Amino acid sequence: MNLKIVVLALVATVITSCGGDGKKEEKVSAPVEEQKAVVEETDPLKNKGIGPITSIELGEIDQKMADEGKTIFSVKCTACHKISKRLIGPALAGVTERRSPEWIMNMILNPEVMVVEDPIAKKLLGEYIAPMANQNLTEQEARKVLEYFRTKTSATDE
Ligand code: HEC
Repeated sequence: MNLKIVVLALVATVITSCGGDGKKEEKVSAPVEEQKAVVEETDPLKNKGIGPITSIELGEIDQKMADEGKTIFSVKCTACHKISKRLIGPALAGVTERRSPEWIMNMILNPEVMVVEDPIAKKLLGEYIAPMANQNLTEQEARKVLEYFRTKTSATDE
């Protein structure tokens, strides 16, 4: 008698939970698909990111600025980044070829919002798990770091 009831209860549970899961999946999968589409449709070099930087004109590489950027980078960023190797964050060699200059500066100046609202940064956070930290650089400092990145278009031994 008891056993029958237990078996019946089990069968009932399995049936209900299967039905429940199926429905849940349907509901959840639509927004995920939409998100994916947004990320894929975004041309990374057209995406300027979200933050204080809306437009930057780049000229010839300014070596003095790049050198100053290198110093800032080694003090504020190398705990998590190397140029040629993935560390806590992505390797940054060639970053100016895969992201717009505005996006890079906004990622430096406004990472908290970027990793929540920008499709590329959101995807990166999914891959790297740790969130990019705001190092409180001024716009001028971030601009110098950007100049340094412009000199690092291929992986070097740094
Ligand atoms: C606490 C670790 C940490 C520090 C410090 C840090 N970052 Fe990051 N950074 C990350 C992580 C992790 C990501 C990937 C996105 C994410 O997971 O939030 C990232 C992403 C980036 C990206 C985007 C890379 C790409 O492939 O598009 C840039 C650019 C960047 N960081 C620059 C900097 C600069 C410049 C500094 C110093 C001012 C810095 N980061 C300091 C962890 C860090």
